[in-house]
This record gives sequence, structure tokens and C-alpha cells, in this order.
Amino acid sequence: MSTGSGSGRTTIRRLLEMKERGEKIVALTAYDYLFARLVDESGVDVVLVGDSLGQVVLGHESTLPVTIQDMIHHGRAARRGVKNALLVVDMPFLSFHVAPAETVRNGGRLMAETGAGAVKLEGGSASTCEHVERLVAAGIPVMGHVGLTPQSVHALGGYRVQGRGAAEGDRIRREAKALEEAGCFSIVLELLPAALAADITAAARVPTIGIGAGPACDGQILVLHDMLGLNEGFRPRFLRRFAELGRETRRGVESYVSAVRSGEYPDPEHSHE
Ligand code: KIV
Repeated sequence: MSTGSGSGRTTIRRLLEMKERGEKIVALTAYDYLFARLVDESGVDVVLVGDSLGQVVLGHESTLPVTIQDMIHHGRAARRGVKNALLVVDMPFLSFHVAPAETVRNGGRLMAETGAGAVKLEGGSASTCEHVERLVAAGIPVMGHVGLTPQSVHALGGYRVQGRGAAEGDRIRREAKALEEAGCFSIVLELLPAALAADITAAARVPTIGIGAGPACDGQILVLHDMLGLNEGFRPRFLRRFAELGRETRRGVESYVSAVRSGEYPDPEHSHE
């Protein structure tokens, strides 16, 4: 599959060049070998093993219970399926923030034990930026993430659009700039008014990757299970469903249940002599 972004594995340098050339960066999440392989072979530039796996794979209410061990387990599985994209693994709740040395140790584990090319972490406060600097100094590339940061869902008062109003918008602009200065090679903008995301993107030297942040971002990311329609009840305004695999999975499984119950399956064609 030709992606228009050149051949060979996607590198951080290539993402920066794509921004300079105005080529859109395509990112998607994946959490296991088979889906990571399908996503990679379909031509995405970045595969994120997001801590959204807490909800869509592990069935938690939020991303907060996700552990570093969960991320390593799923990161390793995804790694086996990804041949061309840049693989990024999320740093889960409190695997950074506590102490810089612990952040570096956890970021290092994620890189070494999964084979990822970068980590992602949420937030843009001065303290988060210090942790980003320590990771970057240790040779660990970092993707930032501002706007709606699901690990802070309780502090933010729920999953809702961030950065409305001048003061909030300025805070998020400052956070994005500070993350860039701390060394992030790219920044996810989640659930922001499109005009604010456009301003941040125009001011940033590194690519922005939007989710629910309008069309001006340098790239887009979605949660795989959401855009494939597997997470059936989840229908935020920004989400376009590119397939209806939830419906198709039910149809397939119900048809199997009825074929086995009726004795119609296995038939002679699916039985050995
Ligand atoms: O965890 C995740 O999947 C993410 C993306 C939504 C950006 O952080």
C-alpha cells in the first residue's frame, strides 16, 4: 500500500517532513497483533497503543486502572504486527509525574520491552514538561497530548470539549508550546474547538495530530474500535464510523449460533472424509 509518505518504516524525521510539505499524517490505535498488522498494511503512518485499551479492550470505565504491565503486554503484541508505521506506546496514569527517575525508568521499559519507537504522555503543565525533558534527554522520543486528557477526566469534570473561552484557550496554547520546547516531536490535540487547534497547529514547528479537533491539524487519529463501529454505544460528534463491524460481528456470530443449533453446520463440505 502506498501512503504518499515514502517507503520504509515511518520515522520521526519523516513526520516532521510531512508537516513541512503539508501532507496529512494518518494515525490509528491498535492493541494486538492482528489488528496492528491490518492497520499497518492499510497504510497508516503511526500506530498508537493507546491506554484507551483500558476501555475498549479491558472493559474498564476509564483509562486510570491501566498499568505499565498492560501497556507492555499489548505493545509487544502490536509490535509483531507493525512493519512500516511508527509505533508509539502510551505511558499510563502515574507511570510518569511521580518522580523524574521513575518516569525515565518506565519510559525506558516501554521502549525496551515493546520495541516501540516513541512514548506518548498526557498533559502540558510545567511539571509534565520537566518529565518530558528527562525522557528526551535519555533518548526516548515523546509525543505530547493536550486538550481533553482522559487520565485527568475527574479533574476536568468529564469528557467534554476543552479550551473554550480566551483564558482556557490561551492555557492550552501555552501547554502545546511548552511541550514543543521540552522536546516533544509531535502533539495530540484532543477535543478542542477547530479554530484553537488551527492556531496551535500554525504556531507549532512539530506536527499536531487531532482527535475531535477539526481539520487543520497536521494529522488525525481515532480509536480503532470506535471508527470501525465495534464500540457500538460510543457516538461523539467528531467520530465518523468508517465501518460497522459491531453489527457485522453480531450478524456473523448469530448466524453461527443458529447453524450449530440446527445441525446445518458443519455440513459435508466442512467435514473430513
Ligand atoms: O489512548 C488513546 O487511544 C489516545 C488517543 C485517543 C489519542 O490517547
